[in-house]
Amino acid sequence: MTPSHNIQNLSSLEQLQQYQNQYKDCRIGLVPTMGNLHSGHLSLVETVAAHCDKVMVSIFVNPAQFSPQEDFASYPRTLEKDIALLANTACSAIFIPKNEEIYPSNAALSIYNLQNYPDVEPLSKVLCGVSRPHFFDGVVKVVCRLFELVQPYCACFGEKDYQQLLILQKITAKLFPTIKILSSPTKRNAKKLALSSRNNYFDAEQLEFATQLPNCMKETVQRLVSCQSKEQWQIILKEAKKHLEKYFSIDYFEVRDNDDLQLVESPNAKLNARLFAAVYLQDVRLIDNNPIT
Ligand code: PAF
Repeated sequence: MTPSHNIQNLSSLEQLQQYQNQYKDCRIGLVPTMGNLHSGHLSLVETVAAHCDKVMVSIFVNPAQFSPQEDFASYPRTLEKDIALLANTACSAIFIPKNEEIYPSNAALSIYNLQNYPDVEPLSKVLCGVSRPHFFDGVVKVVCRLFELVQPYCACFGEKDYQQLLILQKITAKLFPTIKILSSPTKRNAKKLALSSRNNYFDAEQLEFATQLPNCMKETVQRLVSCQSKEQWQIILKEAKKHLEKYFSIDYFEVRDNDDLQLVESPNAKLNARLFAAVYLQDVRLIDNNPIT
């Protein structure tokens, strides 16, 4: 596979090292991805480009963040399309590591186990961590390993995966304190559905159904903003869930604090909080979040 014009295709650790040597005086920013890129990823590239001399996008479908019954095998792998998309961006290198380079049998990756960090680990036990208990451990492992290999000046993650962003901010501050973590606002389609690689699983009718989630979240946030009592707060959330249940099976729909992810159960603490949702449309999981403002 030849990358378009000036993008370098780094498909081994040797090639990564050559690139690092070539640009040793540059700030290299990293956008970790699992491929199947969309304009949400491209906005992460733009954000990094504003802080760095060189933008590297990594593409690695990380087995450690999927459980055996999840979609690792069928996760869309669209390398050629991804390369074509990146050709029109500030990306200057695509790092496509092999599984054995990320997870070599002799590497001491256990320092990246979340359980070693009792002040961060609780953040991985709520929201997505309840139904996907393996997930954040897998994400932390791969991102830390990428940081170890690439040694970027900064890296960027999307606010759509707010819980992931928060956990990565905290763990990076501990393990890679020189790496700056940047974030980009959630990108949405014309109907406000948050962009996600998993949206590709939907047909046109399902995509239309899926827009019920952002619509309901927006309306719920508006109601919560003007809510005055704990009773009303609970009623608003209950009514929204009842509406969503017509379309989806709900994993969670709750308001939590922006920093410690503690449940917010009344309007008193709403100033630093967001509404978080995860639902299934058939087998496809959708997540989204909105600040209570
Ligand atoms: O958000 C993602 O696409 C993945 O969780 C990440 C951060 C690339 C790690 O595999």
